[in-house]
Amino acid sequence: MIGLHPGGKEMTVRLLDLSGICPPGGILELGAGGGDTAGYLKSLGFEVKAIDLNPAGPDVEPGDMRKLDFAEESFDCCLAECSISGCGGGGAALREAFRVLKQGGCLLVSDVFFHKKNAPCLSMEKPLTWNCWKDGFEEAGFRLEEARDETGAWREFFLESLWNGNAEERCVDFFREAGRAGCGYFLACLRKGEKNGFI
Ligand SMILES: C[S@@+](CC[C@H](N)C(=O)[O-])C[C@H]1O[C@@H](n2cnc3c(N)ncnc32)[C@H](O)[C@@H]1O
Repeated sequence: MIGLHPGGKEMTVRLLDLSGICPPGGILELGAGGGDTAGYLKSLGFEVKAIDLNPAGPDVEPGDMRKLDFAEESFDCCLAECSISGCGGGGAALREAFRVLKQGGCLLVSDVFFHKKNAPCLSMEKPLTWNCWKDGFEEAGFRLEEARDETGAWREFFLESLWNGNAEERCVDFFREAGRAGCGYFLACLRKGEKNGFI
């Protein structure tokens, strides 16, 4: 498995397939952690910038996805794997991704959502249900092109972390809270285009 997100490399591949982006397209990874995914994308021939609040690898630059240091319309694609929900301001992160994307570009997201209405808000201003995500995407200006339920990958990630004993204490607490709130996992492709569907 690469990266600290459910589904590992296979999830990244599934997201890329949804986007239609081909090398050498420009990708900005938001919340890139140690840079495993960024390294994989580079090996495919993409031009990649990777930022994280706490970079944990040599190819990841310091940066805050809520206030990006890039000009508007700089990238063909933004990728956020399990990072927006914990970024401290999901609405701002979505608006910033929209700003730095070129027209016709896409935001690829995989992240958690909750089924129960008393769910944690995490980085959003209301409980992080699927409807909350949809509202956030729309408010930022995106058109939701495709979304898939990937809860099976979350379940596997959760069990694997516990089984291998490598889940930090705070993660175990989160897993417990998430389970009570009916946690699921999704992947989605959001397009920056005209509202009527024509780019
Ligand atoms: C669950 S980890 C996922 C890391 C990586 N995407 C992966 O799949 O391995 C979430 C990452 O988001 C980063 N992060 C949290 N808030 C952020 C912010 N405001 N701006 C940039 N990165 C942030 C954290 O430092 C952490 O590395």
